[in-house]
Amino acid sequence: MAGQIPTQFIDDLLTRVDIVDVIDARVPLKKAGKNLSACCPFHNEKSPSFTVSPDKQFYHCFGCGAHGTAVGFLMEYDQMSFPEAIHELADLVGMTVPTSHTTSNSPAQQNLYDVLDKVSQYYVHQLQNNPNKSQFIAYLKQRGLSDQIIQHYDIGVAPDGWDNVLKTFGTSDLNRKQLDEAGLLSSNDNGRTYDRFRKRIMFPIRDRRGRVIGFGGRVLDDSTPKYLNSPETPIFHKGHELYGLYQAKKANRKLERIIIVEGYMDVIALAEKGITNAVATLGTATTPDHLRLLQRSTPEVVFCFDGDRAGREAAWRAAENALPLLGGNHQLKFMFLPDGEDPDTIVRSEGAEAFNQRVANAQNYSDFFFATLESRVDVTSMDGRARLIEMAKPYLRHIPVGVYRDMLEQQLADRAKTTTAILNKHIEKPVENKPKKFTSRAKHTGGFSAVRMAITIILQHPELHAAVGDVDKVASLDKPGIKILVQMLETLRQNPHLNTAALLERSRGGESEAHLQKLAQQTLPLEADALKHELIGIMQQLQHDAIEARLKILTDKPFSQLTQAERAEIRNIQS
Ligand code: UTP
Ligand code: MN
Repeated sequence: MAGQIPTQFIDDLLTRVDIVDVIDARVPLKKAGKNLSACCPFHNEKSPSFTVSPDKQFYHCFGCGAHGTAVGFLMEYDQMSFPEAIHELADLVGMTVPTSHTTSNSPAQQNLYDVLDKVSQYYVHQLQNNPNKSQFIAYLKQRGLSDQIIQHYDIGVAPDGWDNVLKTFGTSDLNRKQLDEAGLLSSNDNGRTYDRFRKRIMFPIRDRRGRVIGFGGRVLDDSTPKYLNSPETPIFHKGHELYGLYQAKKANRKLERIIIVEGYMDVIALAEKGITNAVATLGTATTPDHLRLLQRSTPEVVFCFDGDRAGREAAWRAAENALPLLGGNHQLKFMFLPDGEDPDTIVRSEGAEAFNQRVANAQNYSDFFFATLESRVDVTSMDGRARLIEMAKPYLRHIPVGVYRDMLEQQLADRAKTTTAILNKHIEKPVENKPKKFTSRAKHTGGFSAVRMAITIILQHPELHAAVGDVDKVASLDKPGIKILVQMLETLRQNPHLNTAALLERSRGGESEAHLQKLAQQTLPLEADALKHELIGIMQQLQHDAIEARLKILTDKPFSQLTQAERAEIRNIQS
């Protein structure tokens, strides 16, 4: 799994990185004894059960069970791949990941990024150099775009013709295969293959890190489809990506809010007028994944929709998708434009200041939520108000338990002219995650075997490995976990300075990974000194068991069949 990045590098990296810095930059931590804690970023909770251990370089949530190293945290929280997480951490401490260009992604994926990047540059080049460029340039001018913004968003052109890209880049079977995987080709029923994007204005779609992962292409006239997008590919997933997020982050050191609009041209037209904090979904509804991604970048998300019926319906879908993400320190708002307008048209006609005023006047989530539900009933009658409660119930159940939900319930009660007490009789509370009780035992009895205890101690206090002598004999023991224990001791003998996180990362993708992650979370009830004695005791016991087992094998054989060496061995053991 560690792919092309040398294990040695990851070891070194994990001794330099401090998981506390990594997490604190994303989820502010508070000191709690020798650990640090916060409300868990992976589930919703009121009191903090997410803890970070500087000693183990490990995080663990007692509420939802989330856990891992700094690498694992970035993979979960920032949705990075393993190599991306390693690169991010290396940047943080000023180390350079030993490069072969295959390190940051699988070779196949890296090729897709390369292909898309080259083709994007080709499209940009065509806008300047294609013999028929004038119609494209005229179109962009007519839409009010300056050269500067065209460059900033790397807007380009797929020229007219069936196979411009195919001919330019598909110079071998392998290259053609890559173009296809990158979503740049189409084929018809006769098996003929040609360029997917032809005679279109091309908008490259970038991921968080700025890499081109796909395209949207617009026709110049009224033909359909108006926009053609890249299909899903190994590196392009519409439901996860937001057009313009990379540019918005680049333009704003701190994003106080992000506006979600519907179209590519909306993002670009707003940027043209200096409003650089808009992003667009890619022809899909806003997914919870989108919202999670945004909430990491900003405290306030404003949905901007057309004021027509379709816009209202899209807004309600977005509101539904947002339910599990409500509360905490995040604000969600809605703004609706006059019928027939979109951000592009309105910012061009009214200007940036008026648009900003509209943003400032955006409706709160709760106002939109209740206004929408109330529009469906007659709140002047008791029956209508009862119906309002019935309608709201299933929604409220999806909101995380917390202040925000309590306040929405209060508002529902007020609007229905009833009390929360009556309301609460009818709304089921979701069960809040109870911290799992961990039954740790210093003595290796019952489920917690001696081997498991030894592994746990060494994993959590790798420096204690030095207290353990020769493990050759123990290795022959036929007990669950022995292999892991011996291997870990061997690893530490060769790399005495590994910490818990480095040991865990070495197990990533291996058979023991899940097991070790679990053991790293256990709370050991003793101090390091006592644990050292515990460990020595266990190892002596295991050694003894190993010798006994060996003796049993030897003495079970008829004496006459024993070799000279085996007879000597029995004498040695017994003396
Ligand atoms: P709209 O139809 O609202 O277009 O689609 P627009 O953004 O206002 O485009 P212009 O101003 O006419 O250029 C909004 C978004 O829906 C997706 C695109 O992502 C588009 O930006 N869409 C729309 C498609 O994927 N395909 C289409 O055919 C149309
Ligand atoms: Mn438009």
